[in-house]
Amino acid sequence: MCGIFGYTGRTQVLPILLEGLRALEYRGYDSAGIFIPGAGAFKEVGAVHNLINELPDDLTGTSGIGHMRWATHGKPTRKNAHPHRGAHGHVWVVHNGIVENYKALKARLEEEGHTFESETDTEVIAHLIEKEAGDACLTGEALARALSHVRGAYGIAVIDARCPDVLFAARWGSPITVGVGEEGMFVSSDPTALLPHTRSAVYLEDGEYAVLTPREYRIFTFDQQARAPVVSPLDWDPEDLKKEGYETYLLKEIMEGPEVLKNSVRGRLVPEEGRAVLGGIERFADELRALRHLTIVACGTAFYAGLYGKYLIEELTDIHVDVEAASEFRYRRMVHRPHSAVLAITQSGETADTLESVKEAKRKGFLTLGIVNVVGSSITRITDAGIYNHAGPEISVASTKAYLSQLEVLALLALFLARQREMGEAEGEVLAREMLALPEKVAAVLARREEVCALAARWKDARDFLFLARKGNVGVAYEGALKLKEITYVHAEGYAAGELKHGPLAMIDRHFPTIAVVLQDSVYEKNVSTLEEIKAREGPVIAVVTEGDTVVREIADAVVEVPAVSEHLSPMVSVVPLHLFAYYMGRARGLDVDRPRNLAKSVTVE
Ligand code: AGP
Repeated sequence: MCGIFGYTGRTQVLPILLEGLRALEYRGYDSAGIFIPGAGAFKEVGAVHNLINELPDDLTGTSGIGHMRWATHGKPTRKNAHPHRGAHGHVWVVHNGIVENYKALKARLEEEGHTFESETDTEVIAHLIEKEAGDACLTGEALARALSHVRGAYGIAVIDARCPDVLFAARWGSPITVGVGEEGMFVSSDPTALLPHTRSAVYLEDGEYAVLTPREYRIFTFDQQARAPVVSPLDWDPEDLKKEGYETYLLKEIMEGPEVLKNSVRGRLVPEEGRAVLGGIERFADELRALRHLTIVACGTAFYAGLYGKYLIEELTDIHVDVEAASEFRYRRMVHRPHSAVLAITQSGETADTLESVKEAKRKGFLTLGIVNVVGSSITRITDAGIYNHAGPEISVASTKAYLSQLEVLALLALFLARQREMGEAEGEVLAREMLALPEKVAAVLARREEVCALAARWKDARDFLFLARKGNVGVAYEGALKLKEITYVHAEGYAAGELKHGPLAMIDRHFPTIAVVLQDSVYEKNVSTLEEIKAREGPVIAVVTEGDTVVREIADAVVEVPAVSEHLSPMVSVVPLHLFAYYMGRARGLDVDRPRNLAKSVTVE
């Protein structure tokens, strides 16, 4: 989950590198480092501002590479910080990924007399490349020969100090984007870091490398076949990457909820015909009409969005839906049945477990679909078809707006599939119009955020939380618990409310608060009974309720009201107070809510 960045061109490289690293800090901030030919390598533990304090004032150069590290091999120390060098300090490398066979490679190189400074797997790559380059400047052929020994996943940028204008990049399993700019050429592990400089991107595929010079770039396969580059537009606005006046990206992204819901359905609903229009999957309309079994694979928050997809698709169609954690599904003995498909849900489009699950599903003959936020990401390039979220860049490590968008796109998919089946136009129109009304309902909840802030302050010292819900909101309970865990580091569990009495009730006492979704829906009375079971054990209760509810208010210690909403769509509204609660509790505890400890935005290693 590291961030790598490189540039070669006609302007000073230092400000470009530092800006690129700042844009990549969310991917990992255990350490930061740069290498500029003629100036040297500079590394520091922690975020970019720590590195800047170590830099001399007179750094000059027009090419260089940089790295933001999320530690996988070796502690976050300066020695282990990238860039790493070859035996003679000619070749320098920054790397995102994992070299699975680095111990064997390192032992073999040590037998040849190589010595190593760090505990990292990356340093082995630098030694291999410099060894293959020999006494001459690095070439693409030498780079490919060196990489032929490497097993695992890597996205790398490489510079040979003997030919400082030439920047190499190579990809196997970890994303690499080439930026084609006016002032030079760029490389990044995340296209959003390129936005301030260019809107023209070329995505490397596995087994490809790029050779960049200030005025041109060329793409080759590892077996030396030149590849005609396909330039894709980067259509995000650099301003999206700014906090736009908010104190944190996390609050900005929660507050973007209404806009994200609008963008996710824009051009995709025809309410008067009660149908969804999903251009990205239309060409598989016949296969989808015949679909009988759908397996949703995802990780973390995206997995919890998948639970909502199961609920709604099974509510509206005869399709059987399984939801699988990609980290487990990838090892499953997958059986391809007729009329079945696999749907990957992923914000980044780069999550290793999800990527591997899709690859295995394709090998088994499944139709593979994706719901992805990052355009051009790896998973979008291997699935047969998909639907982009259009949620815009999500910078905060904790996913909120992308989750909201995933729920909405799943509702669009459910409507699309239902209208291929029994659902009539009138029923479809009702659902479509309810979807179009969601942004203002979410906005109404956001307008009450100070109430949630007060609740977070009241319970900020609690050590444990239970999140409860039923039916379509069970995934929201899991998601609310995950958000609290990753933002505040407090223990929290999501549970199906009906399971409380089968064990978890034993935990409840006055020190163990419960946050419950108790909307006026088909399971309202059962949820009210659950609250009474908790109150009988003096457990504190915060309830998310439908506006005007007078019953729960008499039972719970606190309520957060949300506008009345269709049970089919309520998760898109009920989750908002839970995201806000995690945010405000994280702030009340003085934590960095955008970059929680130990985590990274995109888990591109297994
Ligand atoms: C979400 O808040 C977490 N940061 C994490 O669980 C994330 O949802 C998970 O890693 C999946 O990421 P993806 O959607 O990019 O595949």
